[in-house]
Amino acid sequence: MSVNFAAFLYLISASLFILALRGLSHPSTSRHGNFCGIIGMGLAVLITLLLVLPDFSRLVLILFGLGIGAVIGALIAKRIAMTAMPQLIAAFHSLIGFSAVMVSAAALYSPSSFGIGALGSIHTLALFEMAIGVWIGTMTFSGSVVAFLKLDERISGKPIILAYRHFMNMCFCAAIAIFIMILVMTGSHFVFWCLVLLSFFFGMSMILPIGGADMPVVVSMLNSYSGWAAAGIGFTLANMALIITGALVGSSGAILSYIMCKGMNRSFISVILGGFGSETLIPSTSNGKQRFVKKGSADDAAFVIKNASKVIIVPGYGMAVAQAQHALREMANKIKNEGVEVKYAIHPVAGRMPGHMNVLLAEANVSYEDVFELEDINSEFSTADVAFIIGANDVTNPAAKTDPSSPIYGMPILEVEKAGTVLFLKRGLGSGYSGIDNELFFRENTMMLFGDAKKMVESINKSLA
Ligand code: TAP
Repeated sequence: MSVNFAAFLYLISASLFILALRGLSHPSTSRHGNFCGIIGMGLAVLITLLLVLPDFSRLVLILFGLGIGAVIGALIAKRIAMTAMPQLIAAFHSLIGFSAVMVSAAALYSPSSFGIGALGSIHTLALFEMAIGVWIGTMTFSGSVVAFLKLDERISGKPIILAYRHFMNMCFCAAIAIFIMILVMTGSHFVFWCLVLLSFFFGMSMILPIGGADMPVVVSMLNSYSGWAAAGIGFTLANMALIITGALVGSSGAILSYIMCKGMNRSFISVILGGFGSETLIPSTSNGKQRFVKKGSADDAAFVIKNASKVIIVPGYGMAVAQAQHALREMANKIKNEGVEVKYAIHPVAGRMPGHMNVLLAEANVSYEDVFELEDINSEFSTADVAFIIGANDVTNPAAKTDPSSPIYGMPILEVEKAGTVLFLKRGLGSGYSGIDNELFFRENTMMLFGDAKKMVESINKSLA
């Protein structure tokens, strides 16, 4: 009776989770969604404690643990800056992976406490589910730790390419498959920890080669992995709430990753397998050579700029052509309201007349205090998370510093490439007034936003809404 009643209540909490996901799909309903999620989770915890827990003697210990977690969680939620959200989410994903591994270890060492058999004779199926959960959980843990360190700039956000990484990953996969088989056949504690160790390094080697601009995809993918890890452990423990919640998180995270991959022109399969960095092949303009650029959408750009601490906008002739200055000011105001520091960098020859950009920005009511000349702002690009280049080209071209044969050699340029991410908004890979290619389009930290400047900024504004 109580088992059926618990299953019924778990179904109610699962329905609340589905309502939560539905609500969270739009900012206007997100509060309502969050509320449903809180009620659903509260209900699931209560059912587990009151109806499912076989041994009440541990109740105090569990409540103590819950209390510590709740206090730490509430403190972090109150203090965290919105701009630090991606790294916080990555850190929380690592905890989900970690707890999946710890619960599995507890079940392996004391199976009778979890009702999955006696020591040394855990059901084969439970062992298999446990092995899968441990593998994905450990990978989620180590991958999320690396993602956190990158997002929090504790290690370089640039891709860290390990030698023979694809071969190494194949070896990891083969070894993990073998250890899963041995664990299922023997239930050996030693093999369990070997599997944990291998999965740990596999998770790291998957995330290390991924560059800063791709981190949003990484975070949503790790989110998905953490769900599957929870679902795996849910099967082992025959806990319906864990299975449903894990599957919801796993599938919604996978759908989100897919949408983001499409937006950034990434191959979903290569992302799932950790083979990031698949690029779009676009012929370069000057000599027909094939070069690689990263292409982003308005949603990608909105995500990147609103999660930045500091954005420097570089307007150029294309902004004037598109008359994008009003939409641009609206965009800047939106992200400023989110706490992002925004500055405008003006090159003396940007546009087609002296002061061209200043006039346009003034017309759009951009505050003079936010507008800086080249010599005053150039040193600040290295401290900016994003350089947002709108219809400018020559004034950012590093050929002016590096190529003595270039027509613009010697011209001081805005050193946008020093920013964490460079967003280039223009219609294509066309050259600027000087007619020369810009090497920056092909750099690792550049994302191209192809489109008319005004239309693209308006789309970004919609994404920011
Ligand atoms: P440019 O280097 O001329 O680049 C402008 C870029 O805007 C182009 O590459 C173009 O690329 C893009 N664009 C054009 N229409 C667009 C639209 N509707 N939406 C989005 N992008 C659009 O501009 P800059 O960086 O401002 O540099 C100015 C250049 O003009 C310098 O070489 C300077 O020496 C020269 N110049 C300046 C002056 C003065 S006094 N300012 C006078 C004469 C010449 P896509 O085609 O790919 O979109």
